[in-house]
Amino acid sequence: MHWRIDTQGQTIALATEGGIPEVIYWGPSLPEAEDLGQLALAARNDITGGMLDKLPSLSLSPEPGRAFQGQPGHMLAEADGTPLLPAFRFDRAEAAPGRLTLHSRAEGLTLSHHLRAEDTGVITLQTTLQSDRPIRVQWLAAPVLPAPQQGEMIDVHGKWIGEFHLIRTPWAPGIRLREARTGRSGHEHPPYLILAGEGCTNTAGAALALHYAWSGGHRMVAEELPDGRRQVQFGHALGAETEPGTRFQTAELIVACSSQGLNGLGAAFQRDLRDRVVQWPDAARPRPVHYNCWEAVYFDHKLDTLAEIATRAAALGAERFVLDDGWFGRRDDDTSSLGDWTMDRRKWPQGLHPLIRHVHSLGMTFGLWFEPEMVNPDSDLFRAHPDWMLGPRDQITGRQQMVLNLALPEVRENLFQQVSAILQEYPIDYIKWDHNRLLPVVDAAQTRGIYDLIDRLRVAHPGVEIESCASGGGRIDAGILARTHRVWLSDSNDALERLRIQHDAALFLPAAVTGSHVGPRHCHTSGRVLPMAFRAWVAAQRHMGFEMDLRELTEDEALTLGRVTSWWKANRDWTMAGTILRLDSDDPAVTAEMQVSAAGDRFVVFAGQAETSRQILPRPLRLAGLEPGARYTVTLTNPEDAPRQSRGPTAMKAAPLTLTGQALMTRGILLPVAWPATMWVVEGRKA
Ligand code: GLA
Repeated sequence: MHWRIDTQGQTIALATEGGIPEVIYWGPSLPEAEDLGQLALAARNDITGGMLDKLPSLSLSPEPGRAFQGQPGHMLAEADGTPLLPAFRFDRAEAAPGRLTLHSRAEGLTLSHHLRAEDTGVITLQTTLQSDRPIRVQWLAAPVLPAPQQGEMIDVHGKWIGEFHLIRTPWAPGIRLREARTGRSGHEHPPYLILAGEGCTNTAGAALALHYAWSGGHRMVAEELPDGRRQVQFGHALGAETEPGTRFQTAELIVACSSQGLNGLGAAFQRDLRDRVVQWPDAARPRPVHYNCWEAVYFDHKLDTLAEIATRAAALGAERFVLDDGWFGRRDDDTSSLGDWTMDRRKWPQGLHPLIRHVHSLGMTFGLWFEPEMVNPDSDLFRAHPDWMLGPRDQITGRQQMVLNLALPEVRENLFQQVSAILQEYPIDYIKWDHNRLLPVVDAAQTRGIYDLIDRLRVAHPGVEIESCASGGGRIDAGILARTHRVWLSDSNDALERLRIQHDAALFLPAAVTGSHVGPRHCHTSGRVLPMAFRAWVAAQRHMGFEMDLRELTEDEALTLGRVTSWWKANRDWTMAGTILRLDSDDPAVTAEMQVSAAGDRFVVFAGQAETSRQILPRPLRLAGLEPGARYTVTLTNPEDAPRQSRGPTAMKAAPLTLTGQALMTRGILLPVAWPATMWVVEGRKA
C-alpha cells in the first residue's frame, strides 16, 4: 500500500508491507505520473554479510523490538516500569485531500501518524499514541523522516545576547544529538534542522528543513546507521512525560523543501509562521513602532520621566509604549516580587492611569511586562503557597527566582485571575511575556500548562497581542508563536550583533514577528558605540522599536532616527508581508539581505558593512528572487551616509539605475565604499 502527500514544491510518499508505514520519498514535488508501487520497489536495498536476513524498516517510528539497529522512534513501558516492545501492524489509513492519517496497532496500543499539507507550502507531521491501559512514555518521536545521502546538517546554537548561530556538521556514522533540557526551546538548542545538499548556498541548491513546534525543550536525533541509511527524529526531551497515561502526542513537526537554496526554506518558514501559525488579533493592523523603556530606566519607574520619554517617543514616530519590568509588588531590583502582579503604589500611587492617559493622548497604545510563570522566594505568592513551585525545594535559583508549577490548575487559575485583573483595569493592548530562567526539571505538563494559561487569557482578552521573551531569544518556536505575535529575538541591542543574529534567524522567522530595537548610544550589552544611522537601519530590518532614554539623543541623532522610522512606516505594509532573502555576499565583511514584496513588484536591499573589507573597493552585490526578464529600477535610499573617502563615480550615488533581473542577479549592484557599522539601503521597483 502506498500514499503521497503534496504541497506546492514538496512531496512525501509512504508505503507499508504490513508494518508501520515508511517514508519512501521526501523531496521536491514528484510528477503526478509517478508510480508509487515502482517507487516502493526502487527503495528496496540489498542484504550482505554481517547483516540480519531482512533489513529492519526505517519506518515512521522504528521499533526497538524489531531488531532496528538505530535509535528507536518510541521507548515505552507498562505503568510499573516493565519495558514494552510492541510489534505494530499497519491497521488502516484515513485520507482526505491534503490530509493523511496512518494507524498501526499492537497489544492495546494505537500509534497514529498524521500528515497534513499546508497552504503555505510546508507539511506538518504529528504522532499520537493511544493505549487501553496507563503506560509510560520515555520517548515518542514525531513521524520519522529519512535524510538525504549527500550534503550536511545545519542546526542552531545560541546563548544570551548571541542567538541563532548556524552550526554546520557533516554526516558520519553515529548520532548527532541535540537536546534542550532546560524546559524551554532555549537559546542553546533551538528546535530547527536544515539538511543542505552539496554546494547549497543561500540562493541556489537543494535543501530540506524541520522545525519542532514545542516550547518545552526537544530532542533531535540525526543518525547515520551502520548500513548507511540516515534518519531524523524530533520529539519532546527524553523523559518529559513524567506520569503514566493513556494518550500521548508529539508536537507538530513542520517540514519544508527547497530547490532554491536556503532562501526557499526561509521563505516557506516565514510564510508559514506569519500566515498560518500566528493568530493575529487583527491581521490588517499595521505592526506598530514600539517604544520599550527597559534600557532607559530599568526598575526606576517615575511618572514624570516616563511621560517625558513617551512624548519624545511619539514625536519620533512610536505608536506603542511598553512599560517593562518594575511596576508591581516591591520590585526595585530582580530579587523580589515575581508572582505579585499588583501595582507598586510607592512608584504608581494612582496606578498606571496617569501614564496610560498620557500615552493615549500622544496617539500611542500601551503595553505591559509580565513574567507569569515565575516567582521570587521574596514574594507574597511564594510565602502563601510555597508548595506551588516546580522542582525540588533546595534547587539552584536562576536570577533569584523559582518557577511555578503550571501543571497545577490552581496555579493557572491564580495567574489567570491576577493577569486578567490588570488587563481589565487598564486599557492594555500588548503583553511582553517574559521567562527568565532555566527550569529545574524537564516536564511536558509544564509546557501544556503554559499553553493553557496563555490560551485562556487570549480568549478572555482577544485584542491583546503578546510578545514571547525569554532573556531575549530563549523561547522562539512555532509552539509559542501559535499563541504570541512577536519574539524578542535577543537582549542584544548592539546593531552589529543584531545584524548577524537577524540574518541567521531569517531562515526561520518572518520580519513581522521579529522585534528589533534601537538601543542606547553606549550599548548596554557590549559597550560599543555605533552610529545612529546604522542602529536605526538594523532595527528597520524587522519589527521596529526604540529602547533607550530618548533624552540622550542629539538633534542629529533624533533627525536620523525620525527619518528611518518614517521610511519604515511608509514601507511596512509590504515589507512586513514580504519575504526576507539572504544574499550570497562575495565580501565576507558585508551581511546583506533583500526583502521582496509578496507580489514581487518591489524590494529593498539592506547591505550591512559589519567590518572593514579586505580588498580596497566594494565587490558587486548579487541580488536574488527577481524575474530574469523583468526590468527593475534600483535607487540608493541613503546616499547621505557615504563616507568622505567615497570620491569616485559609483553610479548609484548620483541617480537610479534600471537593469533586468538577470543583470541584477548575475552582475549585481556596485555600492559606494562604506565604513564599518554602516548600512546601504537600496530600493527596487519593477519597471
Ligand atoms: C529580560 C528581558 C529584558 C527585560 C528584563 C526585565 O531580561 O529579556 O528585555 O524585559 O527581563 O527584567
